[in-house]
Amino acid sequence: MKKVIIIAMAMLLTGSASFSQNKIGNETEAQKKERMQWWTDARFGMFIHWGLYALPARHEWVKNRERITNEQYQKYFEEFNPVNYDPVKWAKMAKAAGMKYAVLTSKHHEGFCLFDSKYTDYKATNTKAKRDLVKEFVDAFRAEGLKVGFYYSLIDWHHPDFTIDRVHPQRVATSSEYAPLNVGKDMSKYRTYLQNQIKELLTNYGKIDILWLDFSYPGQDGKGRDDWGSIELLKMIRKLQPGIIIDNRMDLNDYSDGYDFETPEQVSPSELTKYKGKYWETCQTFSGSWGYYRDETTWKTQKQLLDLLITSTANGGNLLLNVGPTAKGEFDYRAIDALEKMGYWMGGNSESIYNCTYAPDEFAAPQNVNSRLTYNPRTKKLYLHLFDYPSESKITLPGYAGKVKYVQLLNDYSEIQFQQNDNNIILDLPRQKPPYEVTVVEFILK
Ligand code: GLC
Repeated sequence: MKKVIIIAMAMLLTGSASFSQNKIGNETEAQKKERMQWWTDARFGMFIHWGLYALPARHEWVKNRERITNEQYQKYFEEFNPVNYDPVKWAKMAKAAGMKYAVLTSKHHEGFCLFDSKYTDYKATNTKAKRDLVKEFVDAFRAEGLKVGFYYSLIDWHHPDFTIDRVHPQRVATSSEYAPLNVGKDMSKYRTYLQNQIKELLTNYGKIDILWLDFSYPGQDGKGRDDWGSIELLKMIRKLQPGIIIDNRMDLNDYSDGYDFETPEQVSPSELTKYKGKYWETCQTFSGSWGYYRDETTWKTQKQLLDLLITSTANGGNLLLNVGPTAKGEFDYRAIDALEKMGYWMGGNSESIYNCTYAPDEFAAPQNVNSRLTYNPRTKKLYLHLFDYPSESKITLPGYAGKVKYVQLLNDYSEIQFQQNDNNIILDLPRQKPPYEVTVVEFILK
């Protein structure tokens, strides 16, 4: 008995962090689940990276990569003139692709603001665009019934008080060189600036569903929570927009409520299994760059994109798929093509994505076919996604016997006949692959 008490006390002293993780607010798990519900149901959203970097068209980090100064970068500000910007078109394309929400870069690392902020002149209203591009985005996407989110870069390579650090375009080789370079720069002024801008974004545009802050790199010559004033910032955000959903890049990951979801970036589908049971969203590009990159040719195939969407759902997460519009204000033809293909597939199969998550443990995807299961807990329907259509039209599903009432193809609701054999069921699939890149079989369970 004594021993038990001693062990319990030792656990309290040493391992307390594991069961009483720090909290900033007082929301319960159930309340969070409810707040996150529309987002977990949605599964699929659009990321939009748009800024001055669309002009050089060679990566949104061009200013950093090529160590460009503010003066040299100024030509992009002067020439920014997105004559064909029509967010109504963008919103319609996102919706047609099956996406339920969109997140736009209100400001990226380059510091240029697409919105009309009263705290800077470095904004769209002062370019040839002459208007608040964020306002038009919000109106257009809302009108299509999509939820709207803002990406806002914590980093700012234009602001005079943002100190030069190891990810800055004007970074230097040794740590000791930073102090003299940063004389006269005052991070507390920048901190106030970023807080003011976030306040504007969360005050002037109605209900904002997501805030995507990016990013922290604490440690030597880096920046983190103290630079941003993250705790204070988080409290302000939640106060201004109580329903908002926030990503995990403001360096508060040791607080259980310091963020709402994790953001595995550009990872392969196989890595997504490790996030099961958490709230998460993988963000992915079509081609490697977030901003428009004219000469980038390694675009993901439709099958790779579907793999990301299906594998995300199959592990209880979302996919935020990025488009980098051109300087003219349009989606690239390759993005349009990819979105249309997603839309065609979703048109036949979206029931296996929306409101779905991983399957109960008693069901497993067949080992010998490249496939993934998703499950809708409300309708109790199970979905088998076949990435490679079997040449042999029979598929055996071990352990399914006695659990299945009816089976059909999801894209046309045509019956799939099946037999039971011991513990297994054996599906009799059509010889001809249905006209969808990934075939989905729907199981109505008993
Ligand atoms: C990274 C990059 C950035 C991109 C973002 C999207 O943090 O800095 O360019 O916006 O990821 O997840």
